[in-house]
Amino acid sequence: MIVLKSQREIEAMKKAGEILAACHKGIAKLIKPGITTWEIEEFVEKFLKEHDAKPEQKGYKGYQYATCASINDEICHGFPRKEPLKEGDIVTVDMVVNYNGALADSAWSYGVGQLAPETEHLLNVTKEALYKGIEQAVPGNRIGDIGHAIQTFVEGEGLSVVRDFIGHGIGAVIHEKPDVPHYGLAGKGPRIKEGMVFTIEPMVNIGRHYTKMDQNGWTARTVDGTLSAQYEHTIAITKDGPIILTAQE
Ligand code: MF3
Ligand code: CO
Repeated sequence: MIVLKSQREIEAMKKAGEILAACHKGIAKLIKPGITTWEIEEFVEKFLKEHDAKPEQKGYKGYQYATCASINDEICHGFPRKEPLKEGDIVTVDMVVNYNGALADSAWSYGVGQLAPETEHLLNVTKEALYKGIEQAVPGNRIGDIGHAIQTFVEGEGLSVVRDFIGHGIGAVIHEKPDVPHYGLAGKGPRIKEGMVFTIEPMVNIGRHYTKMDQNGWTARTVDGTLSAQYEHTIAITKDGPIILTAQE
């Protein structure tokens, strides 16, 4: 069942989204060679506390951290750790903010120092793919239109879209209906309606789309060892189209 949200609920989620966006902007300033994802985790914990917000991922299904920090070939759900980032690395920081019980979810990939041209290309294409998906999130379209637009664009750039992890409705809990794949067929899936709130969060690999799970049972990485990037926004559907609740402006 897809739960539609009222304007008030969407307003509350937008407040959570604004805190999340400001937190990402703070992270962007911290990223440089030598910093660890553990320091980013600590920054996020402190930032959210100062804004009377809570890290919703902490304790979710036993996950232990405020952030997911996925480095290089890690696709998603990497653990923050005390390993310094190096020049040329990329790191995706993903978090869910709870503000007065309302949630917002956003992941962002960051480049560390000078990047190789193919790394730069990966980040640019992945971010653009997110916005191509958001463009399709209008009432009357179908969920499949989002994935179709993303997949067509990404594959046209010679990269691949991860299939094993997808976007999701969000509301009372992090993961609700609908499922939002970042690949697939136009005209398929549920009809997009005013009041839906869901994430679009394409994960894009330089090599093939296949994933493998680490021993820790959480962290997914590329099978072929190539880099993976991700950009995620939480969006709300209005009669006039999508509003990005986690926009960094
Ligand atoms: N933010 C993630 C998403 O986009 C959810 C991560 S669940 C966690 O779906 F437990 F790993 F935090
Ligand atoms: Co997320």
